[in-house]
Amino acid sequence: MQYSCYPIPFLFVIAIVLSPTTALAHQHYHRCTAKFYELTKSKNMSRCLRLPTLGAEMGWSAPLLKNCHHVFQVVFGAPLREEKGWLAWGVNPTPEGRMVGSRAAIGIRDPSGPPHCKTYRVGYETRRECGPLRPRDVEEMKCLRFEHDNRTGYYYLTATLNLSSTDYNVSKLNIVWQSGFDADGDVPKKHASNLKNIDSFETIDLVSGQCSDMAFIKIYLRQVHGIMNIIGWGTLLPVGVIIARFFREFPIETEYGWYYFHVSCQSIGFSTGAIGWGIGIWLAHSSPHHILLTHHVLGITIFVFATLQTLAIRFKPGKTDDFRKVWNIYHHFLGYALLPLIFINIFEGIKILKPDNKNTWKLAVTGILTALGVITFILEAYTWKKFIDYKNQDKKEGDIRRKCESTNYDQGGGSINKHQHGSEINQDGSGEDSSEEQHQQHQRSPQ
Ligand code: HEM
Ligand code: HEM
Ligand code: HEM
Ligand SMILES: *[C@@H]1O[C@H](CO)[C@@H](O)[C@H](O)[C@H]1NC(C)=O
Ligand SMILES: *[C@@H]1O[C@H](CO)[C@@H](O)[C@H](O)[C@H]1NC(C)=O
Ligand SMILES: *[C@@H]1O[C@H](CO)[C@@H](O)[C@H](O)[C@H]1NC(C)=O
Ligand SMILES: *[C@@H]1O[C@H](CO)[C@@H](O)[C@H](O)[C@H]1NC(C)=O
Repeated sequence: MQYSCYPIPFLFVIAIVLSPTTALAHQHYHRCTAKFYELTKSKNMSRCLRLPTLGAEMGWSAPLLKNCHHVFQVVFGAPLREEKGWLAWGVNPTPEGRMVGSRAAIGIRDPSGPPHCKTYRVGYETRRECGPLRPRDVEEMKCLRFEHDNRTGYYYLTATLNLSSTDYNVSKLNIVWQSGFDADGDVPKKHASNLKNIDSFETIDLVSGQCSDMAFIKIYLRQVHGIMNIIGWGTLLPVGVIIARFFREFPIETEYGWYYFHVSCQSIGFSTGAIGWGIGIWLAHSSPHHILLTHHVLGITIFVFATLQTLAIRFKPGKTDDFRKVWNIYHHFLGYALLPLIFINIFEGIKILKPDNKNTWKLAVTGILTALGVITFILEAYTWKKFIDYKNQDKKEGDIRRKCESTNYDQGGGSINKHQHGSEINQDGSGEDSSEEQHQQHQRSPQ
């Protein structure tokens, strides 16, 4: 297929597929930052772990088993950017290991007094927001201090833990952490529901200091999802549509070329998008959130529509088939309807992802959108120009003909018809389809 646009997206896909593996092999995700490591060392802690979200890090001393209790110390630090705010670190004995059921130490920063910390139990009533989260004693931990470290710039809390070995397995300990931006005395107020707040739980092995790569892989795959969807749905599909619209026969005729370009752009775009889509589904199934309704509905709709469009490869009716007209209308309608949905969903995705370099993402997508828009505009203008030229030419020829007709009465309207714009081109044929529908289509399009 000499006309296809295979190489470019293939390179992208290969780069995208290879980069996480190389990144995973070479990067030590969990290594603490040097400054935080210093801090934990100065507290005699032998272990340190960088957590995947909220810029948080933790260090702890090796757990000692005393009377069936694991006893150790923890420091947990993270940036608190607002003047008011809180940081929480907790353990959860339930198998789910998320917020509900956790016992947590929460340090609160309030401009009206020094930073302070207490212990809490976070239950269902907290999640349902049926009342303030008040401090209470828990047997698992005591919070010793909450303070600012001016080397890391973090706030950090120091707690002693005493975990019963019947309730907790320190080789498989569920931990949660969180940060919020509002508090009232010693009552912390609800945190945000962004992905980074919702992914802030993990199962770690306190003995070896190991922790699964899962959260980091998820963060990585979200970006892969975004990029593949932007390339597949957001770039190749619209390019394929532009090709079908302007290069089929009017204003620019490319015989078979447009068809191969259209089909290959759309099938590669669809495959890339479909892989990205599948990653999205997998990601959504592995995170416990409820914030994706719009993105979810649009995502499924786009995939279903695009699958229908791509089925054209197998199930397109022959050009002489009566059903072909209906197919053409439906393929056009669905094809154009997809484009706005795709771009709405891309911006929706960026809103959910809230990447640190959000503006770069938005700029990239806006750039693609603008480029597509400008190309469409130019081709559309060209279409009009050519159309008007045809009209003028028709008129001129019509005038001449009328003059001739006055002397030569047996040349009828048939020849006027023949010279109406495009019908000539149509007869040369785009090879693939030269049907009446097509003829009507490009006559209609510039009007
Ligand atoms: C201050 C009162 C709090 C309220 C009202 C609250 C509310 C919520 C809500 C409604 C969600 C679900 C978000 C969603 O799915 O869209 C959630 C998730 C979560 N919260 Fe909290 N939260 C509070 C405090 C805490 C604290 C102190 C921690 C940490 C110790 C914490 C850790 C988490 C985590 C890890 C999740 C995500 C996992 C899960 O769904 O359980 N939250 N919170
Ligand atoms: C998701 C994938 C696809 C999308 C979004 C899409 C979209 C479109 C659109 C919008 C048009 C109309 C262009 C115009 O204004 O003239 C069109 C035309 C066309 N497409 Fe697709 N298309 C897709 C996949 C395919 C595939 C896989 C085939 C392979 C058979 C195909 C075959 C055609 C044909 C033959 C036409 C010309 C129809 C006519 O004669 O008017 N399309 N496509
Ligand atoms: C038209 C293109 C896109 C489609 C069709 C699409 C589709 C999907 C689907 C189906 C899901 C699963 C949602 C669920 O089942 O609840 C999802 C999740 C998600 N998408 Fe997209 N998406 C697109 C573009 C993007 C972009 C451009 C970004 C970001 C830059 C993005 C970010 C996300 C994120 C962060 C999630 C949640 C992943 C998680 O739960 O961990 N999406 N997407
Ligand atoms: C750390 O350990 C050393 C030696 O065991 C001890 O002298 C020092 O006081 C400890 N520091 C803290 C903060 O516990
Ligand atoms: C760090 O904090 C200490 C005490 O809180 C203070 O005396 C010192 O000036 C601070 N250092 C810097 C660089 O801010
Ligand atoms: C740990 O807690 C248990 C039960 O609450 C208590 O008996 C034990 O003395 C505690 N150990 C330490 C070192 O605080
Ligand atoms: C604790 O978890 C580890 C790792 O999964 C497992 O090998 C061990 O048997 C568990 N210990 C207990 C007491 O359940």
